[in-house]
Amino acid sequence: MNAIVDSTAATHLELVVKQIRMEANGVNSYEFVSADGSNLPPFTAGAHIDVHVGGGVIRQYSLCNSPSERHRYMIAVLKDPNGRGGSAAVHETIKVGDRVRVSVPRNNFELHPGSTKVVLLAGGIGVTPMKSMAHQLEAQNIEYQMYYCAKGPEYAAFQAELEGLAKSGSVSFHFDGGDPGNKLDISSILKNPKGECDLYYCGPGGFMQACKEASEHWPSGSVHFEHFKAPVKKETEECPIVGGFIAEIASTGEKLEVGPSESLAEALNNAGYSVETSCQSGLCGTCKVRYLKGVVDHQDFILDDSERPDFLTCCVSRAAGGTLLLDL
Ligand code: FES
Repeated sequence: MNAIVDSTAATHLELVVKQIRMEANGVNSYEFVSADGSNLPPFTAGAHIDVHVGGGVIRQYSLCNSPSERHRYMIAVLKDPNGRGGSAAVHETIKVGDRVRVSVPRNNFELHPGSTKVVLLAGGIGVTPMKSMAHQLEAQNIEYQMYYCAKGPEYAAFQAELEGLAKSGSVSFHFDGGDPGNKLDISSILKNPKGECDLYYCGPGGFMQACKEASEHWPSGSVHFEHFKAPVKKETEECPIVGGFIAEIASTGEKLEVGPSESLAEALNNAGYSVETSCQSGLCGTCKVRYLKGVVDHQDFILDDSERPDFLTCCVSRAAGGTLLLDL
């Protein structure tokens, strides 16, 4: 039996909060189940769900449990006092027994099907997709090494559960005490990529940058990552192109003017072309649209080089000049 899907859209579910647990300092896990105990739509490691927090706030959280579990979705949320308020709202308003609207799982961070060996690097709350990946790798008996960095043991969620894994791989913890001089030596770990090995990483901005720099010599297509927060651009990096542009709809020939302070997604929705959005930050891929002509100023953190010649995320990306012809 499968969970009843929201009648207005087959993309959302109304689930019950069965359990909330404190997993580490500032980190709670939330277990969502169907009201009648039926199975939930399946997911694969690396998938996330949109959680409708209330007041129109929607946030994306990676599923952290084993994809073999069909009876529940587990997320873990770090309360970020400097965030946009979504994580604080989750901590402060969601209670056991509540009914919460969530999307069906989507995956922009899949394990590569051909991997025979995997390195997982997790920084802080970036452990959530990595934990799900470790479960899946265990189930598939694929060799992996997981490194989990946190300030200290009291900040590391799911320690006992992760230590209990590691049948087909190894899980090691690195606690730096908050001292930049004690950071995990990621460069050494990634120094010699072994053939057929894939790397996955997720964590806060500095951690992501360190992983990116340390893996630049890895073979193309072997490095995979997911940001959970839009990275802060360095002053030396290019600013997004400002100014308006024209977006043409291929199916109708209609030309839309996108204003300088308007996103392409907003312009499309205002003109009656329904484009679903979620993160509004170029992180989740929900608003991905194919384009047929034009030069795009890609401002997302989700599309890879193989996708960018054909797709754009219309919540943040714009024309780099001229007209964009959209496959709508
Ligand atoms: S809404 Fe998430 S990438 Fe556009």
